[in-house]
Amino acid sequence: MARHFLQITDLKRSEAWNMLTRAKEIKATKWKSSLLGGKTIVLLFEKASTRTRLSFEVGIRALGGNVIFLTSRDSQLGRNEPLRDTARVFSRYVHGIVVRTFAQEILDELANAGSIPVINALTDLHHPCQVMSDMLTIFERTPDLPDLKIAWIGDGNNMANSWLHAAMYFPFALHLAVPEGYEPDPDILQNAREGGANVVLTHDPREAVADAHYVNTDVWASMGQEADAEHRREVFASFQVNSRLLALAHPQCKVLHCLPAKRGEEITEEVLEGDFSIVWDQAENRLHMQKAILEWIYSETHHPATEASPAE
Ligand code: CP
Ligand code: NVA
Repeated sequence: MARHFLQITDLKRSEAWNMLTRAKEIKATKWKSSLLGGKTIVLLFEKASTRTRLSFEVGIRALGGNVIFLTSRDSQLGRNEPLRDTARVFSRYVHGIVVRTFAQEILDELANAGSIPVINALTDLHHPCQVMSDMLTIFERTPDLPDLKIAWIGDGNNMANSWLHAAMYFPFALHLAVPEGYEPDPDILQNAREGGANVVLTHDPREAVADAHYVNTDVWASMGQEADAEHRREVFASFQVNSRLLALAHPQCKVLHCLPAKRGEEITEEVLEGDFSIVWDQAENRLHMQKAILEWIYSETHHPATEASPAE
Protein backbone atom coordinates (compact mmCIF):
# COMPACT_ATOMS: atom_id res chain seq x y z
CA MET A 1 0.00 0.00 0.00
CA ALA A 2 1.34 3.40 -0.97
CA ARG A 3 1.43 6.05 1.71
CA HIS A 4 -0.70 9.15 0.93
CA PHE A 5 -0.90 12.65 2.38
CA LEU A 6 -4.45 13.76 1.62
CA GLN A 7 -5.12 15.51 4.93
CA ILE A 8 -3.21 16.18 8.14
CA THR A 9 -4.95 13.29 9.89
CA ASP A 10 -3.22 10.86 7.51
CA LEU A 11 -0.35 11.41 9.94
CA LYS A 12 -0.41 9.92 13.41
CA ARG A 13 -0.13 12.56 16.12
CA SER A 14 3.45 11.47 16.88
CA GLU A 15 4.34 11.64 13.17
CA ALA A 16 2.96 15.18 12.94
CA TRP A 17 5.14 16.23 15.86
CA ASN A 18 8.20 14.46 14.41
CA MET A 19 7.55 16.18 11.10
CA LEU A 20 7.72 19.61 12.74
CA THR A 21 11.04 18.81 14.37
CA ARG A 22 12.39 17.25 11.19
CA ALA A 23 11.29 20.17 9.00
CA LYS A 24 13.09 22.56 11.37
CA GLU A 25 16.25 20.46 10.97
CA ILE A 26 15.78 20.29 7.17
CA LYS A 27 15.57 24.07 7.10
CA ALA A 28 18.62 24.54 9.32
CA THR A 29 20.77 22.16 7.26
CA LYS A 30 19.31 23.08 3.83
CA TRP A 31 18.86 19.31 3.41
CA LYS A 32 19.70 17.81 0.03
CA SER A 33 19.57 14.08 -0.62
CA SER A 34 19.22 11.32 -3.18
CA LEU A 35 16.03 10.10 -1.48
CA LEU A 36 14.09 10.55 -4.73
CA GLY A 37 16.96 9.48 -7.00
CA GLY A 38 15.54 7.72 -10.07
CA LYS A 39 12.01 8.72 -9.14
CA THR A 40 9.62 10.93 -11.09
CA ILE A 41 6.76 12.82 -9.45
CA VAL A 42 3.88 14.31 -11.43
CA LEU A 43 2.40 17.62 -10.34
CA LEU A 44 -1.20 17.48 -11.57
CA PHE A 45 -2.74 20.94 -11.08
CA GLU A 46 -6.30 21.92 -11.99
CA LYS A 47 -6.02 25.34 -10.29
CA ALA A 48 -3.43 28.12 -10.43
CA SER A 49 -0.39 28.05 -8.14
CA THR A 50 2.85 29.90 -7.54
CA ARG A 51 4.17 28.78 -4.13
CA THR A 52 2.96 25.19 -4.11
CA ARG A 53 4.17 24.39 -7.59
CA LEU A 54 7.56 26.05 -7.16
CA SER A 55 8.25 24.73 -3.68
CA PHE A 56 7.39 21.17 -4.72
CA GLU A 57 9.46 21.41 -7.91
CA VAL A 58 12.48 22.81 -6.06
CA GLY A 59 12.06 20.39 -3.14
CA ILE A 60 11.69 17.27 -5.31
CA ARG A 61 14.78 18.24 -7.33
CA ALA A 62 16.77 18.91 -4.14
CA LEU A 63 15.98 15.33 -3.15
CA GLY A 64 17.19 13.99 -6.48
CA GLY A 65 13.82 13.45 -8.16
CA ASN A 66 12.40 14.44 -11.55
CA VAL A 67 9.22 16.49 -11.91
CA ILE A 68 6.58 16.59 -14.63
CA PHE A 69 3.97 19.36 -14.46
CA LEU A 70 0.56 18.58 -15.98
CA THR A 71 -2.78 20.33 -15.99
CA SER A 72 -6.14 18.81 -16.86
CA ARG A 73 -6.10 21.05 -19.95
CA ASP A 74 -3.03 19.41 -21.40
CA SER A 75 -3.88 15.85 -20.40
CA GLN A 76 -6.77 13.57 -21.31
CA LEU A 77 -8.42 14.42 -17.98
CA GLY A 78 -9.67 17.57 -19.72
CA ARG A 79 -11.46 15.26 -22.16
CA ASN A 80 -13.03 13.27 -19.33
CA GLU A 81 -10.76 10.26 -19.20
CA PRO A 82 -11.82 8.60 -15.93
CA LEU A 83 -9.68 9.34 -12.89
CA ARG A 84 -9.30 5.66 -12.09
CA ASP A 85 -7.80 5.05 -15.55
CA THR A 86 -5.48 8.03 -15.15
CA ALA A 87 -4.34 6.80 -11.74
CA ARG A 88 -3.55 3.31 -13.02
CA VAL A 89 -1.61 4.64 -16.02
CA PHE A 90 0.37 7.12 -13.89
CA SER A 91 1.26 4.25 -11.57
CA ARG A 92 3.04 2.49 -14.45
CA TYR A 93 5.27 5.48 -15.27
CA VAL A 94 5.91 7.57 -12.18
CA HIS A 95 6.36 7.30 -8.43
CA GLY A 96 3.91 9.84 -7.04
CA ILE A 97 1.29 12.49 -7.81
CA VAL A 98 1.02 15.90 -6.17
CA VAL A 99 -2.52 17.07 -6.92
CA ARG A 100 -4.24 20.47 -6.75
CA THR A 101 -7.90 20.13 -7.58
CA PHE A 102 -11.49 20.84 -6.53
CA ALA A 103 -13.21 17.95 -4.74
CA GLN A 104 -11.38 15.97 -2.08
CA GLU A 105 -13.03 12.87 -3.61
CA ILE A 106 -10.84 13.31 -6.70
CA LEU A 107 -7.79 12.70 -4.52
CA ASP A 108 -9.46 9.74 -2.86
CA GLU A 109 -10.16 8.18 -6.24
CA LEU A 110 -6.60 8.74 -7.52
CA ALA A 111 -5.24 7.26 -4.30
CA ASN A 112 -7.57 4.26 -4.33
CA ALA A 113 -7.23 3.38 -8.01
CA GLY A 114 -3.48 3.88 -8.33
CA SER A 115 -0.60 2.22 -6.52
CA ILE A 116 1.60 5.29 -5.96
CA PRO A 117 1.55 8.00 -3.26
CA VAL A 118 -0.82 10.95 -3.70
CA ILE A 119 -0.16 14.29 -2.00
CA ASN A 120 -2.82 16.97 -1.53
CA ALA A 121 -1.55 20.28 -2.92
CA LEU A 122 -4.95 21.93 -2.13
CA THR A 123 -8.55 20.92 -2.59
CA ASP A 124 -11.76 22.80 -1.80
CA LEU A 125 -11.76 20.94 1.54
CA HIS A 126 -8.13 20.99 2.72
CA HIS A 127 -4.69 22.52 2.29
CA PRO A 128 -2.61 20.25 4.53
CA CYS A 129 0.87 21.06 3.16
CA GLN A 130 0.22 24.75 3.80
CA VAL A 131 -1.03 24.31 7.35
CA MET A 132 1.81 21.96 8.31
CA SER A 133 4.19 24.62 6.95
CA ASP A 134 2.36 27.25 8.99
CA MET A 135 2.78 25.06 12.06
CA LEU A 136 6.52 25.04 11.36
CA THR A 137 6.48 28.85 11.11
CA ILE A 138 4.83 29.01 14.52
CA PHE A 139 6.85 26.20 16.10
CA GLU A 140 10.22 27.71 15.13
CA ARG A 141 9.27 30.97 16.89
CA THR A 142 7.25 29.66 19.79
CA PRO A 143 7.77 25.96 20.59
CA ASP A 144 5.51 26.24 23.66
CA LEU A 145 2.34 25.49 21.73
CA PRO A 146 0.12 24.79 24.77
CA ASP A 147 0.21 28.45 25.80
CA LEU A 148 -0.71 29.80 22.40
CA LYS A 149 -3.92 31.35 21.16
CA ILE A 150 -4.20 31.22 17.37
CA ALA A 151 -6.97 33.16 15.63
CA TRP A 152 -8.47 32.43 12.24
CA ILE A 153 -10.31 35.44 10.78
CA GLY A 154 -12.44 35.21 7.64
CA ASP A 155 -13.77 32.33 5.61
CA GLY A 156 -14.31 28.85 7.02
CA ASN A 157 -12.55 27.48 3.94
CA ASN A 158 -10.04 24.75 3.05
CA MET A 159 -7.37 26.44 5.19
CA ALA A 160 -9.71 26.71 8.18
CA ASN A 161 -10.58 23.01 7.86
CA SER A 162 -6.92 22.02 7.85
CA TRP A 163 -6.33 24.28 10.86
CA LEU A 164 -9.01 22.30 12.68
CA HIS A 165 -7.02 19.14 11.97
CA ALA A 166 -3.85 20.81 13.22
CA ALA A 167 -5.68 21.77 16.42
CA MET A 168 -6.43 18.07 17.04
CA TYR A 169 -2.74 17.24 17.07
CA PHE A 170 -1.06 20.35 18.46
CA PRO A 171 -2.19 21.76 21.78
CA PHE A 172 -2.96 25.41 21.04
CA ALA A 173 -6.31 27.16 21.36
CA LEU A 174 -7.85 27.85 17.94
CA HIS A 175 -10.36 30.70 17.81
CA LEU A 176 -12.15 31.02 14.48
CA ALA A 177 -14.18 34.14 13.63
CA VAL A 178 -16.27 33.70 10.48
CA PRO A 179 -19.44 35.38 9.19
CA GLU A 180 -22.66 33.47 9.75
CA GLY A 181 -23.10 30.91 6.98
CA TYR A 182 -19.34 30.69 6.29
CA GLU A 183 -18.42 28.23 9.03
CA PRO A 184 -15.87 25.48 8.42
CA ASP A 185 -17.03 22.01 7.40
CA PRO A 186 -19.35 20.82 10.22
CA ASP A 187 -18.10 17.21 10.22
CA ILE A 188 -14.47 18.31 10.41
CA LEU A 189 -15.35 20.74 13.22
CA GLN A 190 -17.17 18.04 15.18
CA ASN A 191 -14.40 15.46 14.64
CA ALA A 192 -11.78 17.99 15.70
CA ARG A 193 -13.65 18.73 18.91
CA GLU A 194 -14.21 15.04 19.60
CA GLY A 195 -10.53 14.47 18.86
CA GLY A 196 -9.54 16.90 21.60
CA ALA A 197 -9.05 20.15 19.69
CA ASN A 198 -9.49 23.30 21.76
CA VAL A 199 -11.68 25.23 19.29
CA VAL A 200 -13.84 28.31 19.80
CA LEU A 201 -16.09 29.37 16.92
CA THR A 202 -17.44 32.92 16.94
CA HIS A 203 -18.88 35.50 14.53
CA ASP A 204 -16.96 38.32 16.26
CA PRO A 205 -13.39 38.89 14.96
CA ARG A 206 -12.57 41.02 18.02
CA GLU A 207 -13.33 38.13 20.34
CA ALA A 208 -11.11 35.76 18.33
CA VAL A 209 -8.22 38.22 18.09
CA ALA A 210 -8.24 39.31 21.76
CA ASP A 211 -4.77 38.48 23.19
CA ALA A 212 -4.03 36.13 20.27
CA HIS A 213 -0.37 35.27 19.65
CA TYR A 214 -0.96 34.52 15.96
CA VAL A 215 -3.65 35.88 13.65
CA ASN A 216 -4.33 34.05 10.43
CA THR A 217 -6.37 35.06 7.45
CA ASP A 218 -6.95 34.10 3.81
CA VAL A 219 -8.78 35.44 0.76
CA TRP A 220 -12.54 35.90 1.09
CA ALA A 221 -13.19 34.19 -2.26
CA SER A 222 -11.12 31.07 -2.86
CA MET A 223 -10.25 29.66 -6.27
CA GLY A 224 -13.49 28.55 -7.90
CA GLN A 225 -15.57 31.15 -5.98
CA GLU A 226 -14.70 34.13 -8.19
CA ALA A 227 -18.34 34.67 -9.26
CA ASP A 228 -19.31 35.22 -5.61
CA ALA A 229 -16.42 37.61 -4.86
CA GLU A 230 -18.46 40.82 -4.87
CA HIS A 231 -21.09 39.44 -2.52
CA ARG A 232 -18.37 38.10 -0.26
CA ARG A 233 -16.67 41.51 -0.08
CA GLU A 234 -19.86 42.83 1.56
CA VAL A 235 -20.35 39.86 3.88
CA PHE A 236 -16.73 39.83 5.07
CA ALA A 237 -16.20 43.62 5.31
CA SER A 238 -15.92 43.60 9.12
CA PHE A 239 -13.48 40.66 9.06
CA GLN A 240 -10.51 42.58 7.66
CA VAL A 241 -7.21 42.08 9.48
CA ASN A 242 -6.06 45.67 10.04
CA SER A 243 -4.16 47.63 12.70
CA ARG A 244 -7.36 48.47 14.57
CA LEU A 245 -8.22 44.80 14.98
CA LEU A 246 -4.63 43.84 15.82
CA ALA A 247 -4.52 46.43 18.60
CA LEU A 248 -6.60 43.88 20.56
CA ALA A 249 -4.11 41.06 20.03
CA HIS A 250 -1.11 40.08 22.17
CA PRO A 251 1.57 42.81 21.94
CA GLN A 252 3.99 40.39 20.20
CA CYS A 253 1.29 39.05 17.89
CA LYS A 254 2.34 37.84 14.42
CA VAL A 255 0.18 37.64 11.33
CA LEU A 256 0.03 34.72 8.93
CA HIS A 257 -1.45 34.61 5.44
CA CYS A 258 -0.93 31.65 3.10
CA LEU A 259 -0.86 34.05 0.10
CA PRO A 260 -1.77 35.20 -2.46
CA ALA A 261 -3.28 38.14 -0.54
CA LYS A 262 -5.83 40.69 -1.67
CA ARG A 263 -4.53 43.87 -0.05
CA GLY A 264 -7.40 46.11 1.08
CA GLU A 265 -9.75 43.13 1.41
CA GLU A 266 -8.96 40.47 4.02
CA ILE A 267 -5.72 42.25 5.06
CA THR A 268 -4.39 45.78 4.77
CA GLU A 269 -1.17 46.72 2.99
CA GLU A 270 0.08 48.18 6.29
CA VAL A 271 -0.35 44.87 8.15
CA LEU A 272 0.96 42.66 5.36
CA GLU A 273 4.12 44.78 4.96
CA GLY A 274 4.51 45.71 8.63
CA ASP A 275 6.17 44.27 11.72
CA PHE A 276 3.27 41.96 12.47
CA SER A 277 3.74 40.04 9.25
CA ILE A 278 5.69 36.79 8.97
CA VAL A 279 4.22 35.80 5.62
CA TRP A 280 7.54 35.56 3.76
CA ASP A 281 8.98 33.11 6.30
CA GLN A 282 5.70 31.29 6.05
CA ALA A 283 6.01 31.02 2.27
CA GLU A 284 9.63 29.83 2.55
CA ASN A 285 8.62 27.12 4.99
CA ARG A 286 6.53 25.41 2.31
CA LEU A 287 9.80 24.17 0.84
CA HIS A 288 11.18 22.76 4.09
CA MET A 289 7.95 21.20 5.32
CA GLN A 290 7.22 19.57 1.97
CA LYS A 291 10.67 17.97 1.97
CA ALA A 292 9.73 16.49 5.35
CA ILE A 293 6.44 15.26 3.89
CA LEU A 294 8.27 13.68 0.94
CA GLU A 295 10.68 12.02 3.36
CA TRP A 296 7.77 10.65 5.41
CA ILE A 297 6.34 9.14 2.24
CA TYR A 298 9.46 7.91 0.48
CA SER A 299 12.00 7.02 3.16
CA GLU A 300 12.94 3.35 2.91
CA THR A 301 12.04 2.56 6.49
CA HIS A 302 8.48 3.73 6.04
CA HIS A 303 7.94 2.92 2.43
CA PRO A 304 9.78 0.02 0.80
CA ALA A 305 10.41 0.43 -2.91
CA THR A 306 8.24 -2.62 -3.60
CA GLU A 307 5.14 -0.74 -2.47
CA ALA A 308 5.08 1.51 -5.52
CA SER A 309 6.85 0.09 -8.51
CA PRO A 310 6.34 1.71 -11.91
CA ALA A 311 7.62 -0.21 -14.94
CA GLU A 312 10.73 1.95 -15.33
N1 CP B 1 -0.42 29.37 -0.54
C1 CP B 1 -0.47 28.72 -1.72
O1 CP B 1 -0.87 27.54 -1.80
O2 CP B 1 -0.04 29.46 -2.76
P1 CP B 1 -0.16 29.10 -4.31
O3 CP B 1 -1.64 29.10 -4.65
O4 CP B 1 0.61 30.14 -5.02
O5 CP B 1 0.40 27.72 -4.53
N1 NVA C 1 -8.34 29.40 0.21
C1 NVA C 1 -7.48 29.72 -0.90
C2 NVA C 1 -6.08 29.30 -0.62
C3 NVA C 1 -5.12 29.63 -1.72
C4 NVA C 1 -3.73 29.16 -1.44
C5 NVA C 1 -8.00 29.04 -2.16
O1 NVA C 1 -8.42 27.88 -2.08
O2 NVA C 1 -8.02 29.68 -3.20
